[in-house]
Amino acid sequence: SEPTSEKRQRKEVDINQFSILPIDDTFYTRPQIEGDKITYNIVAQKTKQEVSSGIKLNLYSYNGTVPGQEIRVKVGQQVEVNLKNELDQPVTIHWHGYPVPVDMDGVPGVTQNAVKPGESFQYSFTATVPGTYWYHSHYKSAEQVDLGLYGALIVEGDRQTELDRDYTFILDEMNSKGKAGPKGMMGSSNDDLFTVNGKSGDLISAYEIQTGENVRLRFINAGYITHYMNLGSIEYRVVAVDGQAVMDPQIIQNKLLPVGPGERYDVEFTAPDSSFFIREMINTPAADGLIIPLINRTSKKTLDETEYDGIFTLIGSGIATEYASLASNKYDQEYKMVLSHGMKGMGMIYTINGRTYPDIDPLDVKRGDIIKVTLESKDMMFDHPMHLHGHFFQVLSKDGSPVEDGAIFKDTLVVKPGEKYELAFIANNPGEWMFHCHDLNHASSGMMTSVLYD
Ligand code: C2O
Ligand code: CU
Repeated sequence: SEPTSEKRQRKEVDINQFSILPIDDTFYTRPQIEGDKITYNIVAQKTKQEVSSGIKLNLYSYNGTVPGQEIRVKVGQQVEVNLKNELDQPVTIHWHGYPVPVDMDGVPGVTQNAVKPGESFQYSFTATVPGTYWYHSHYKSAEQVDLGLYGALIVEGDRQTELDRDYTFILDEMNSKGKAGPKGMMGSSNDDLFTVNGKSGDLISAYEIQTGENVRLRFINAGYITHYMNLGSIEYRVVAVDGQAVMDPQIIQNKLLPVGPGERYDVEFTAPDSSFFIREMINTPAADGLIIPLINRTSKKTLDETEYDGIFTLIGSGIATEYASLASNKYDQEYKMVLSHGMKGMGMIYTINGRTYPDIDPLDVKRGDIIKVTLESKDMMFDHPMHLHGHFFQVLSKDGSPVEDGAIFKDTLVVKPGEKYELAFIANNPGEWMFHCHDLNHASSGMMTSVLYD
């Protein structure tokens, strides 16, 4: 459940109990670089990982750790990723949020054949836009992503040289009994371990900062619920959403940063003359295990944690990304998608216009079209983080009021119970593109369609 404004008993933690991992001991291995080409070799494999003190889970990973190998490239580079499958079931890699050519999109049975056990597949695409993205398997993804087949895709742009620190925080929920895949009625609420970079509690590493440094934190949510991050009393700026740079980012303080499933938020701040914690603030005991220490070794102080006074809302906060608005356009096609759920036999189904995938007509568009999509939730129970592959869409309106601030472009949008959004995107990347809920349990139980054109 969402954080409330009531004071919540905070778990006392001592900042000295956390250790700073040298960067090379984490999940970074070196890519090969040859001219403009950068190559990563990724092996999908079984991995046993201690996620919380004494709790070792049998997981799947790309290169031996959850999250997998961070893929970090620069705009303009030709990216080549050689995937080898050493699991006993098929896998793929989908580049979440990245506008790759469709045959590189990693959807088995749609854009490529699943990579079978023992087989390999080479992904290649050009790094065209900077930002924070991520990658994950799209084969039985409700289960495989839950088991750890995900990692960050960071595309560095011009601003990279202005950053003194650049940390990636991938948020997730896990289950101490190691169960993955379809959850109970309430989705992921059985998950009792909230993780950052595959660790919970004392095993979370500390991240170093020094007074005055320009620090960027890239939050990625690989899980199925929204995580509400409290950055203490730090004055921070949201500099990118879903990878798209924000123009004139405003200073935010004492507001929780909500990171929905599949979404990314990049924040920057000037490092204070003290250490501090970032905490998850959802009202559930698992949240106490998600505390990220940022340690300033030149200081003996730890920032007091002030009470937060609200939740940052993207829409209505004056944020605009660096794209020309599609708002006053004529739309070539208009679609409406009503989101809901129901029962089928003993199981839950999640529906678009009353139907489940593949029994839903694709959005049939033409190259160059500007398409308007209305997403309306008639679901009074579940959030539906809707994700469109291969494109960025603009959020035009929420609950009937136009988004006045400017053009917010995203690839994943959390539609809460009863909400209604209008979106627009340009059909500028031909192919068959999935459009689905990123609670992957919902996607596998029906809430998925596609956009099709050549
Ligand atoms: Cu993360 Cu089909 O997507
Ligand atoms: Cu959903």
